[in-house]
Amino acid sequence: MEITNREWPVLIISGQFDAQNDEGYRLRQLAEQLKEVQDCRVIPSFTYEDGYEIFRSRSDFGCIVVDWDIPEEDPGEATTAEELIVKMRIRHQGIPIILLTGRREMDRIPAEILRDVNDCLWKTSETISFMAGRIETHVVDYVRTVYPPFFGAMVQYSNEFKFAWHTPGHMGGEGFLRSPAGVALFKFFGESVFRSDLSVSVPELGSLLEHSGVVGDAEKNSARVFGADQTYYVLNGTSNVNQIIWRSQLVRDDIAFVDRNCHKSLNYAMVITDAYPVYMIPRRNKRGIIGPVRLSEFSPESIQRKIKEDKLIPESLKGNEVKMSALTNSTYDGVCYNVVNIKKQLEKSVENLHFDEAWYAYARFHPMYKDHYGMTDDKLDENHPPIFCSQSTHKLLTAFSQASMLHIKNGGKIKINHDEFNESYMMHGSTSPQYIMIASLDVATRMMDDNGQTMMNDIILGAIRLRQKVVNIEKNLQKKNKNDWFFGMWQPREVNVKGKMTPFEQVDADFLADHQDPWVMSSDNNWHGFEEMEENHCMLDPIKLTFTTPGIDDHGQMQDEGIPASIVTEYLIGKGIVCEKTDYYSFLLLNSLGTTEAKQGTLLSAMLRFKDIYDADTPLCEVFPELVGAYPDVYRGVGLKQHCNDIHGYWKEHKILQKMQDAFQVIPDQGMKPSEAYHQVVRKNVEFVELDQMMGRTPAVMMVPYPPGIPIMMGGEMMNEKAGPIFEYLKLRQDFENAFPGYESEIHGVERTERDGKKFFRTLCVK
Ligand SMILES: Cc1ncc(COP(=O)(O)O)c(C=O)c1O
Repeated sequence: MEITNREWPVLIISGQFDAQNDEGYRLRQLAEQLKEVQDCRVIPSFTYEDGYEIFRSRSDFGCIVVDWDIPEEDPGEATTAEELIVKMRIRHQGIPIILLTGRREMDRIPAEILRDVNDCLWKTSETISFMAGRIETHVVDYVRTVYPPFFGAMVQYSNEFKFAWHTPGHMGGEGFLRSPAGVALFKFFGESVFRSDLSVSVPELGSLLEHSGVVGDAEKNSARVFGADQTYYVLNGTSNVNQIIWRSQLVRDDIAFVDRNCHKSLNYAMVITDAYPVYMIPRRNKRGIIGPVRLSEFSPESIQRKIKEDKLIPESLKGNEVKMSALTNSTYDGVCYNVVNIKKQLEKSVENLHFDEAWYAYARFHPMYKDHYGMTDDKLDENHPPIFCSQSTHKLLTAFSQASMLHIKNGGKIKINHDEFNESYMMHGSTSPQYIMIASLDVATRMMDDNGQTMMNDIILGAIRLRQKVVNIEKNLQKKNKNDWFFGMWQPREVNVKGKMTPFEQVDADFLADHQDPWVMSSDNNWHGFEEMEENHCMLDPIKLTFTTPGIDDHGQMQDEGIPASIVTEYLIGKGIVCEKTDYYSFLLLNSLGTTEAKQGTLLSAMLRFKDIYDADTPLCEVFPELVGAYPDVYRGVGLKQHCNDIHGYWKEHKILQKMQDAFQVIPDQGMKPSEAYHQVVRKNVEFVELDQMMGRTPAVMMVPYPPGIPIMMGGEMMNEKAGPIFEYLKLRQDFENAFPGYESEIHGVERTERDGKKFFRTLCVK
């Protein structure tokens, strides 16, 4: 749809709107003229403070008009026009700001303010129509600049109302109107979606596969903004970004050094490239939270030792250089690595570095994350290898689902040749790209370029305030009753503020948002629970919010009573609050560009309500009626608190956290490469084997239990004595599901069969 002036309202901030004098009269006339003649919507605001709040809360203004004078009858304004303009300019570089002033005030306006504003209009002498016309000109000029290259061209094309004689078959939406279901879809999404869903045969929009025209311009712009030498838009998720990167650099029998905590797409990357994986093993704390890989693991000695000890890699290949390393940065729980330190180690023995930053595309836009992301601007020496980054723009920035970016920084000597690289890109791309997704990547780039730091600062501050609120709730409860409880947050308890250790919740939120130090993990302030933490190796991302539930003490010992996190998140789902991830005694929520203060209030109120019904041991049939209805014999007559303690008691008795810990420290013997395991699947040389019979067998597919969401076995690894702890852990998960029906959790690669009312895990194994 054509964007008109009406979509970009004018905010006029003046205390004179209602004044019964000449100025008030003229202001009202100006607003009227803008509405009637210029067709602009006018939003009036009567104080600088309110005006700023309105400005802050929305981004659709076409122009801001600020009356410079403080009206005599309102000397109590907490903010001055000068402060207001400075604050607005910091938040938004591009928006036109017009000062309304009188002849006498001109002398009092500081030069810096004149630099910040786009125009000064003399409110008592300029004609109303001149002022309104001038404002409209600013709106029109500004709105034109809002559109980044691809999106702008797409809107322009769509507004030319061409007859489509090309794919997609709905041809601008017309096709949908031939049948009621189609009409419903058309009405739901709106016409612009369909008129922007175009074919590659539209030359005006360039070519994604060839990275030409406006698409190419948009990708180049993203490269500049995200700090890359080259950026590629990928429309089928970071799952595919990872595979494009690997396909471009690895071939059969190459060696890769891979984070065991990798996304499954990297396992598939090993399959399609036919590479030999050697693994980095992340630490984990007593709560089961996945931590960083030790810095020492990145050293050439450690990598060489792993290769030497590997039983699968033929001796003849062991001297070969490692083609690629792949590290998950940040981890799901928000552990971000100091990439500069890691690169210094990896560049000694690895040819290409890959950082999987699916959850972390924003890092470049706030000093909080300095040096902790792949495309960081540190000084690279001439030997540094090429660096690849995969980012799901759609996950935590603002793009449509599956819209991702692939960034490349060339090596000191080795440059990534576009034509060679593009072969891999094309292998994974469709010849019918979805243009709306491209537009969303283009816009996400522009948003971060325009005011990324401001947006990130708001998000970080919001997360910090929520973190502090949670601690304060607990402390206030414990003031009344020292044994009372509330949920905790996985975060520093104390922070060094100017040499003084200060409780986290008492530290100024701006200080916590402005400094990286409080978030950097160290061994002498071990709130994180990871052992032997190296200095300056990694930090916690403040916007990844891990809430902890009671049940584990500071030393990692399971207490007599506890609240499994899955029960809390199940309750929250019932209240319309969907968490990102649930572990045994913690759950993760993400603060992102879409998080609002109101959302946080709803969350805290739901958590407080959970506490109330837990403390009251409310009958489970009231809390989870469906669960009790489905399994009345197990759960009838039980209260919520009792239920939590039953599950907690089971986990304590069977040492679930210890067993998980043990299982994930083992890298099982590899019977075959991941690719060979997959070949067995293709050749149908596989069969389902139940867990109880799995000892001595080789699963052909990867098994990934949630929690913690890390592959416990890769396809081709053997379930033998060495893998005993893995077997034990999976067995415990199976027994738990039978003891507590309704608590079936996700395990990728594992199916359940039922016999005699019992569930059995089974997975595809090589025959
Ligand atoms: C670390 C990591 N890499 C890659 C991906 C895949 O991303 P996408 O969903 O964009 O395909 C995910 C998805 O969860 C992930 O967690």
